[in-house]
Amino acid sequence: MTHTALNTRFAQRFQLNTPLALAPMALATGGALAAACAQAGALGLVGGGYGDLAWTQREYGLATELLKNDAASHARLGCGFITWKLDENAEALDWVLTQKPCAIMLSFGDPRPYAARIANAGAQLVCQVQRLDQVAQAIEAGASVIVAQGGEAGGHGANALEGRSTFTLVPEIADYLAAHSPNTLLLAAGGVADGRGLAAALMLGADGALVGSRLWATTESLAAAGAKTQATQTNGDGTARSEVFDILRRKNWPAPYDFRAIRNDLHRALEGDVAALKTNPDEARAHYDAGVKAGDFSRAHATVGEAVGLIADVPTAHDLIARITHQAQTLLAK
Ligand SMILES: Cc1cc2nc3c(=O)[nH]c(=O)nc-3n(C[C@H](O)[C@H](O)[C@H](O)COP(=O)(O)O)c2cc1C
Repeated sequence: MTHTALNTRFAQRFQLNTPLALAPMALATGGALAAACAQAGALGLVGGGYGDLAWTQREYGLATELLKNDAASHARLGCGFITWKLDENAEALDWVLTQKPCAIMLSFGDPRPYAARIANAGAQLVCQVQRLDQVAQAIEAGASVIVAQGGEAGGHGANALEGRSTFTLVPEIADYLAAHSPNTLLLAAGGVADGRGLAAALMLGADGALVGSRLWATTESLAAAGAKTQATQTNGDGTARSEVFDILRRKNWPAPYDFRAIRNDLHRALEGDVAALKTNPDEARAHYDAGVKAGDFSRAHATVGEAVGLIADVPTAHDLIARITHQAQTLLAK
């Protein structure tokens, strides 16, 4: 541990060298990225996402293989899932639990049905929430850590009607936890992409930060190279939240969730009339599918949040975590 301000309760509970967690990003956080983050001293959560068993076995298995001679890093390996998909099929969760993960992160749904089996497997439960009114349910599920996700975040989150921003949600939940469940730790998520963001998260009362978009743009991430390049060329004005890409991808996400990604040409063409897109999606889906096939990110989506404006390169996860940690340390030492 490099600086005492970074040796937070979260770092201590998970034996981390820096109070950072890698977001379990569906299809982007594979085994190589999770293993690299764990080796860099952060919590490495494989992106179990929609709960595909074969994908989860392959990528979690890869992380385990990469860390097989490194017990300290392996102890920082876990997995995350989209909760409402587990309600349809939880076989990937059940398989991961046989692998002794240190933590399971659940987002977007009621975690309580899964709490007992996660606890029985010896894993800590991490629950991502978007609103204060979801916190009591996470505490009831026995969450060891709550992740407060603001609407700046990349990927899925709460829509404009229900969502909050990181800057107000984190301190409000910090106060709530201090009063009602002081042993439950708190991470900030949404917009943390450098040492300023990590230091700010700690100042707002979090025990650390969960980083998605910034770690998505690393060499180990499974995101397409063309998407990463587009991200380095896009500033923070260039993303939007909507249902557009979920409709194009045939993903039946329930309310109140929608999706933040780069607001590309196809998004702009469709965003003005989402109702019409829902009624008549075929032609737009054909454009989208062709864009994905061609690696054309004016049509295919690149999943990043507002933090994209802080992404100018595609480093290794190790170098990025060292950079964020060093910058936070310097700022906190002032
Ligand atoms: C590419 C991408 C995929 C994501 N997939 C998931 C997911 O499968 N499950 C989940 O809980 N969160 C997912 N998220 C959201 C993250 O958990 C996290 O809240 C978010 O990345 C934090 O904001 P940031 O992107 O500004 O760092 C995803 C985020 C991104 C960028």
